[in-house]
Amino acid sequence: MTARASAPGKAILFGEHSVVYGKPAIAVAVDKRANVTIREGNDDSIHVKIPELDVYGVIDIETGLISLENDILGQENPDTFDAGILKFIKSALFRTELGSSPDHGMDITVDLEIPIGAGLGSSAAITVATLAAAARYYHHDLSLETLALTAHQVELEVQGAASPLDTTVSTHGGFLYFTHESGGVKIKPALEMPLVVGYTSQPGNTGLLVQQVRKLCNDHPTIIKPIIGLMGNVTNHARESITHGEEERVGELMNINQGLLDALGVNTDELSRLIYHARSAGALGSKLTGAGGGGSMIAYCPGKTREVLEELQSIDNAFLVGMSRKGVTW
Ligand code: PMV
Repeated sequence: MTARASAPGKAILFGEHSVVYGKPAIAVAVDKRANVTIREGNDDSIHVKIPELDVYGVIDIETGLISLENDILGQENPDTFDAGILKFIKSALFRTELGSSPDHGMDITVDLEIPIGAGLGSSAAITVATLAAAARYYHHDLSLETLALTAHQVELEVQGAASPLDTTVSTHGGFLYFTHESGGVKIKPALEMPLVVGYTSQPGNTGLLVQQVRKLCNDHPTIIKPIIGLMGNVTNHARESITHGEEERVGELMNINQGLLDALGVNTDELSRLIYHARSAGALGSKLTGAGGGGSMIAYCPGKTREVLEELQSIDNAFLVGMSRKGVTW
């Protein structure tokens, strides 16, 4: 028996961090995906291969213990940042919503097109694709709503505080305006939005950054709460501008959002450098995307994509991402 599923990464355009406090966010599924294949295994363990990360792990079915196949990886420590992704896969495989749980060996391969720790939703995409492939493997029906909810539970279990934004976008695809009351509502952009992504050399740790913002908010509630409220206003204005095709306003709002994120302490030198270089090269707007503290920034640069891409490539890794209407496929 072989089961396959695939789910897209995402870019948050507006509202990261403030979404954790109940404010809206706008995010888009991107044309880079996590592809998961589950096959029946030859022994009693679950073997997980993620060749793009050089991660080869084993999950013990009885104890749930995760270890790395050291002979292949040549290292002792299973708790490296990249290997942390195995925790999402394990948590996904053992969710009761799947109707069954592993009772024999499996070989799982993750083909990952999304850079990890880059704020592009790699862990959500892997989680959604693993759940979908496992549901297929167990011949279990799972609605998209249950899939998105279960994937969010996995993120909470592994990472601590998290909003359901990443898992919602990865499940449903497209361009989403997300609120906690109504979940993801698809919006129709009246403008083209290819984005240049600049990817710093440091991965961002989402759980840690969310905690850091929580502490800042507890220490300075009368300052930080209004900033979070303003971020919500920016997102609502951006929704209007995106659906009316107002390119310059979208750019301005991204820049305002970036200033507010900086005030929350999640910006870094390296991100700032990319963000300002993108603007100098002609981007209408540029900001960090995802949790910050490293990871990636995005630049919105209609008519100047090539110039901005080349500028950012001269500093760090940079690539172009397009929007994907396709959410999870299985
Ligand atoms: O770093 P990412 O791609 O997981 O995005 C995190 C977005 C936050 O708003 C900071 C956290 C969340 O769970 O919404």
